[in-house]
Amino acid sequence: MNVDIHVPAAGLDMVFTILQQSGMEAKVMFEDLQEAVEAQMDNMRVTKAHDYTKYNSWATINDWAVSISSANANLISRQVIGNTYEGRPMHLLKIGKKTGSAKPAVFMDCGFHAREWITHAFCQWFVNEAVSTYGSDPEMTNLLDRMDFFVLPVFNIDGYEYTWTKDRMWRKTRSRNSGSSCIGADPNRNFDAGWCTTGASSNPCSDTYCGSSPESEIESKNLANFIRTNKSIIKAYLTVHSYSQLLLFPYSYKYGLAADHSELLSVSQGAIAALRSLYGTRYTSGPGATTIYPAAGGSDDWAYDLGVKYSYTFELRDEGRYGFLLPESQIKPTCEETMLAVKYIASYVLNNL
Ligand code: ARG
Ligand code: ZN
Repeated sequence: MNVDIHVPAAGLDMVFTILQQSGMEAKVMFEDLQEAVEAQMDNMRVTKAHDYTKYNSWATINDWAVSISSANANLISRQVIGNTYEGRPMHLLKIGKKTGSAKPAVFMDCGFHAREWITHAFCQWFVNEAVSTYGSDPEMTNLLDRMDFFVLPVFNIDGYEYTWTKDRMWRKTRSRNSGSSCIGADPNRNFDAGWCTTGASSNPCSDTYCGSSPESEIESKNLANFIRTNKSIIKAYLTVHSYSQLLLFPYSYKYGLAADHSELLSVSQGAIAALRSLYGTRYTSGPGATTIYPAAGGSDDWAYDLGVKYSYTFELRDEGRYGFLLPESQIKPTCEETMLAVKYIASYVLNNL
């Protein structure tokens, strides 16, 4: 398969030599990634009002979460499921018609990995689209009448803030590790699903560090606690990452197929067909282990083994041309097409309770 790698300038000669010796074909996608980062960051420095077609800072998203909830009190209720390591509130929005009785629910999170900025944009887009098409779009109206969406717009808030201020390519949380000066763990290696057995590192300096134990990261613990507490109503778990244009489902911690493999596969194929119908964007779907790589400790596998059958990981645009630095001009089309896939999955879930 194709693999994208970031190489520090000092390692360039060595990496080229190794690639050449191994006979692997390589193409330079960014001569100077730092230059591309700075070009995008220049645009970000000024404090701006919230905008669905731009990348919003944590401060802006925080205010947005509060204000969109109070402006749409008929459809949205907001709670804080806990604070991050650095003390920021993890807002969770529940979107759906308030019926007074428990409804089946879809849980969706964005921003597990700090640098995957298009995902944070998507969760905000989803909330706005839900409330502004309720009553006019029959599919959305039916969904919100009969189910609830729990949306966690930014999971790894501390990491996201760090990508705005210090290192645009940061992935992990920002917790301290005892006995190491390296910071953070990979939250998507930190769940209790074959924890740290494959595709994860026990070295705190690695970008895929699994943490000192399952749910060692407070953000993972807060999310897992919420899902455990509400598992009787949560019928689907969607976790949004970027990039690669994939729709993944369990398992990633092992090659064995999920008990619901054929249903998960057919729903994923329907979802990516719906996504593609808008702008022709091609996604691939399949089990994580064979479709991207084996990697244990992911929230998708954990939720599935807990009993949430429809558990999916999105990897949004693009396929590497811009990668994590997806231009703001692609926020709108990416969010519009992804909406179709999410609505497809939610409608399927609702019709197959
Ligand atoms: N790119 C994602 C990651 O590395 C893929 C996650 C797929 N799921 C999983 N459980 N590994 O976290
Ligand atoms: Zn990710």
